[in-house]
Amino acid sequence: MPLATGLDILQAARAGGYGVGAFNTNNMEITQAILEASEATRSPVLVAVSEGGLKYGGKPLIDMVLAMGREASVPVCLHLDHGSSFESCLRAIRMGFTSVMIDKSHEDEDVNVAETKRVVDAAHAAGVTVEAEIGRLGGVEEHVVVAQEDAILTKPDEAERFMRATGADYLAIACGTSHGANKGKGRPYIDHKRIREIAALLPMPLVMHGASGVPSALVERLNAAGGQLADASGIHEDDVREAVKHGIAKINTDTDLRLALTVAVREVLASKPKEFDPRKILGPARDLMREVITERMQVFASAGKA
Ligand code: 13P
Repeated sequence: MPLATGLDILQAARAGGYGVGAFNTNNMEITQAILEASEATRSPVLVAVSEGGLKYGGKPLIDMVLAMGREASVPVCLHLDHGSSFESCLRAIRMGFTSVMIDKSHEDEDVNVAETKRVVDAAHAAGVTVEAEIGRLGGVEEHVVVAQEDAILTKPDEAERFMRATGADYLAIACGTSHGANKGKGRPYIDHKRIREIAALLPMPLVMHGASGVPSALVERLNAAGGQLADASGIHEDDVREAVKHGIAKINTDTDLRLALTVAVREVLASKPKEFDPRKILGPARDLMREVITERMQVFASAGKA
């Protein structure tokens, strides 16, 4: 089946009141875990590749993900996560991505509008749909590190103006989440009122970045197996459920998959020091990632929607 665009999948999600996961991949095992969980739960899915992922895996990674996505019996979109420039988005479109994010949220609003509109015009001409962002998340992204105190939550009127001016298809908003495994002390505060206000002005799908749950069970296993992850904290799944109820349709998850992969690899290496078959090391990682993704799909309520 040909890949779906992001808008195909996310419009149905916003209308149906459920969320769809965008899971980052960098290799075969992660992609298999994402697609196997999607098939097992009958869930539409966005497979996301960042610019860093593209640099790491190159065109062979993309060709593999495209081939695997086309084999799936559920709707699959290949999405560029945090495209930093028009050129980067265009390159992804030429490679076969069906959704791109242009992220100029660190620029002034007029630059963000102009650059986003440029990408929207080119992407739409190619049948590809576009995510844009206004506001600023805290945490570590590939090209920028933003301290929590420098995060700027998205203003509803600004979001409406931005979407009208750019014609982007879905909007990433800053509402209290942040990228990475340290999202703040205790349970990070999510500004649900803000999500509701933005959703009341904008009928299009809204996107939550930095949404990983960073499950404490995984963090404990990681540290027990020799990892060193301190002050880990993630977004509570009730906050994700509530956000979805109000209009969040795309939920980005990368950190939880990184954690699951690392936990499983560490556990195998610690418990079987004689093992050196890559399949016996990465196979359990794939299994644990599939479990984590399956649980997320239940929380998002995308399970059963494909
Ligand atoms: P996490 O770091 O919470 O997994 O978020 C990933 C993300 O938003 C990628 O764009």
